[in-house]
Amino acid sequence: MALSRRPARPRAVEVVFLPGLYRSTADEVRALLPRVRPEPVPGREDALRFHYTGPLARLNALRTAVAAFTVLTFGVARPAQLGHPDHLRRIRAAATEVDGARSFRIEAAGSGSPAIRRLADAIGAATGLAHRPGDGDLVLRLRPSVGADGWDVLVRTSLRPLSARAWRQADYPGAVNATIAAAMVRMLPLRPEDRFLNLMSGSGTLLVERLLAGRARSAVGVDWSPRANAACRTNLAAAGVAAELVEADVASPDLLGGRRFEVVAADPPWGTRTGSHGANADLYAAMLRTAHRLAVPGGVLAVLTHEVRLMERTVRAHRGLWEPRAVHRVFQKGHHPRIHVLQRW
Ligand SMILES: C[S@@+](CC[C@H](N)C(=O)[O-])C[C@H]1O[C@@H](n2cnc3c(N)ncnc32)[C@H](O)[C@@H]1O
Repeated sequence: MALSRRPARPRAVEVVFLPGLYRSTADEVRALLPRVRPEPVPGREDALRFHYTGPLARLNALRTAVAAFTVLTFGVARPAQLGHPDHLRRIRAAATEVDGARSFRIEAAGSGSPAIRRLADAIGAATGLAHRPGDGDLVLRLRPSVGADGWDVLVRTSLRPLSARAWRQADYPGAVNATIAAAMVRMLPLRPEDRFLNLMSGSGTLLVERLLAGRARSAVGVDWSPRANAACRTNLAAAGVAAELVEADVASPDLLGGRRFEVVAADPPWGTRTGSHGANADLYAAMLRTAHRLAVPGGVLAVLTHEVRLMERTVRAHRGLWEPRAVHRVFQKGHHPRIHVLQRW
């Protein structure tokens, strides 16, 4: 009789995401891992937790998450006590589950202290991994336990953060964070019969994340920059997905002729890194008019922007074309962009 390879006890897992994406990540966790019940981590706006029995590869398929960790909790008063052989055995078991690790680094307050260095030596001896404080490939985080006495060791379940995408072969100024793009496409219908249009597609983050999230009848990206379209072509090929790219101004009245789309997404210039605040007023109005002409009645549009007031004004001025459905606020490295979801009349 074949023996089950499932771990006897569910592991405690913490998933970290960009603040503002709790609902997107919780929904993705529930869809990907059906028996799992995610809940917020008290006091944190960037993490959720759950118990999970299954392979790390399933967890590592999350696309809206920045990283996932196995959480080991120990009833110790100080991190130095984690060097006890029983504790090291649990740390080794979690560390050796992560494919390909050769070295590790410890992230902790006071990670250069003699006590943590001694602990690192003990973990190195127990796991056979080299301790490389600056660039070790397996991340171990130490912190006081959440809501209990003791200390936690968080073992990252992947060597690179989940937010790093292997398909991103061509960098592009102003490219959207891939976890935000993954969340944005999940705020829209993901039906295989849908035609998907990405206005101002840049290096293709939204196109790639939409096509990796599920089949679409067709996908089209529009950007007027040859450099953007070249980067986009490279990234689409690296992701193994296909989209038609059109080099054109989104304001042009005959863009894409009589073609129609069920779902439209746009990531216009924010006026900070790309574009200018002045030119954006005309561009944002043109984007809503063009999207309206190209969307089917009842079609949906999502716009990611940091131009908060301009976008609100433009949406108000186009209430006859688009009905606002939701606004999601996201936090990313000092920027607070919003995702507006609109429905065509
Ligand atoms: C914020 S970037 C998009 C980044 C993209 N989401 C990515 O991840 O790479 C905005 C893009 O809008 C394009 N753009 C600006 N004005 C445009 C216009 N009038 N017509 C077409 N594309 C335009 C720029 O060339 C730029 O690639």
